[in-house]
Amino acid sequence: MKVLFVCLGNICRSPSAQGVLNLLAAQDNLDVSADSKGTAAYHIGKAPDPRSQACALERNIDLSGLKAEQVLVDDFYNYDFVFAMDSDNLAHLQTLRPHDATASLALFLQDYGTLGEVNVPDPYYDGELAFNRVLDLLFDACGRFLEVECS
Ligand code: 4NP
Repeated sequence: MKVLFVCLGNICRSPSAQGVLNLLAAQDNLDVSADSKGTAAYHIGKAPDPRSQACALERNIDLSGLKAEQVLVDDFYNYDFVFAMDSDNLAHLQTLRPHDATASLALFLQDYGTLGEVNVPDPYYDGELAFNRVLDLLFDACGRFLEVECS
């Protein structure tokens, strides 16, 4: 099962989601592989934000090898699931998605989150608390995703 997480810059939320889902899938020996991209081109080629890397590392997730990429129309044929981190990203992806796309497209927390939020809040202009909240939301929804889709 191939999953693509998409945020705006691909340096904070979606690489974190990629790391969380891959960690949880590996722990349970599940055949799930996650990637991430951004809707915007600003940060192409850059590693995840150092604040995201630091928070993820505290939870045993190493994001240091990732590089930001921008989402492509072909991604809608190359993945099973494309998940937006927030409703702005979802709206952007809906405009890109071809009519015969094979990937499903959804707002990740709306489908799988259990903590009462539908958007993963953009932490870019906030502090450490916001980056940790991103990870809390992602651990919750990724755990639920694996329960629902892999059982
Ligand atoms: P992300 O966070 O979409 O979670 O990667 C952001 C990264 C960069 C910017 C905004 C959000 N930016 O405005 O540069």
